[in-house]
Parts: sequence; C-alpha cells; structure tokens
Amino acid sequence: MVPIPQYPLYSATLCEYGMHLISYYLDEENQWALNINELQRALEESKDQCKPKAIVVINPGNPTGSVLTKNNIEDIIKFANKNKLIIIADEVYQHNIWGESAKFYSFKKVMHDLEIKLELASLMSASKG
Ligand SMILES: Cc1ncc(COP(=O)(O)O)c(C=O)c1O
Repeated sequence: MVPIPQYPLYSATLCEYGMHLISYYLDEENQWALNINELQRALEESKDQCKPKAIVVINPGNPTGSVLTKNNIEDIIKFANKNKLIIIADEVYQHNIWGESAKFYSFKKVMHDLEIKLELASLMSASKG
C-alpha cells in the first residue's frame, strides 16, 4: 500500500519487481492527512487482485510536507496489525519540520508505547540525515 501523492521510489520499485500497487489517497482538503477509512477502502478493493503484504507511510510527507499526529500513527499501527501488514515507515524528512504545532513521532517509538510487535522498517537516508 503506497500513498498518493508519493515520492515515486515505491511505485517504481513495485513495477520493477512486477508487484501490485495498492494506492491510498491522502486527504488534500484536510492538510493531506492520512485517513484510516481510506486505507480500509483501498485494502478491500485490492483483495481480488493481490495479497496485501506491506504499507508504506511517508512521514513527514513528500511531496505534501504533512506531519502525522501520534494518534494517527497509533491508528495506522493498529490497522497494520489487524491486517497483518509489514510497515515501511519512510522517515527521511524527520529533521525537516516547519509547522509550528507539528511534531515528529517515530513509528518505532509509538509502536513500542502501544506494546504491539510488528515487522517495521524505518528508513533514513544519508543525504537527508
Ligand atoms: C520520501 C523520500 N524517501 C526516500 C528518498 C531517498 O533519499 P536518498 O535519495 O537520500 O536516498 C527521498 C529522496 O528525495 C524521498 O523524498
């Protein structure tokens, strides 16, 4: 599962490996928030085309710049847990936050606090770090 809009690394990689892309749409009217109902919709609609395996979350978002709230991250982790999805948390822009009320929470920390154990890949990059 990959957010739209996204940094195209993810759709390109899926294409290269001949895997199915499940698009979920970020909510432009609501500062590009990530809506759990939209995740559910995208997952349901994909079930006759593939076996969903993983969800990519880009936080802070590129190209949207939006920063997920802690509650939002908790809901995403619960969604992934319920649907047995690996989480790929692209957190390369974690030091690049400009909104006054925005605060970065890592998936690893929120998952630890929730006491949920899931497979998680947290991505950082040398050029952004
Ligand atoms: C969201 C996101 N993830 C990953 C990358 C890859 O980072 P790098 O080019 O430093 O490997 C980028 C690059 O711009 C990016 O925007």
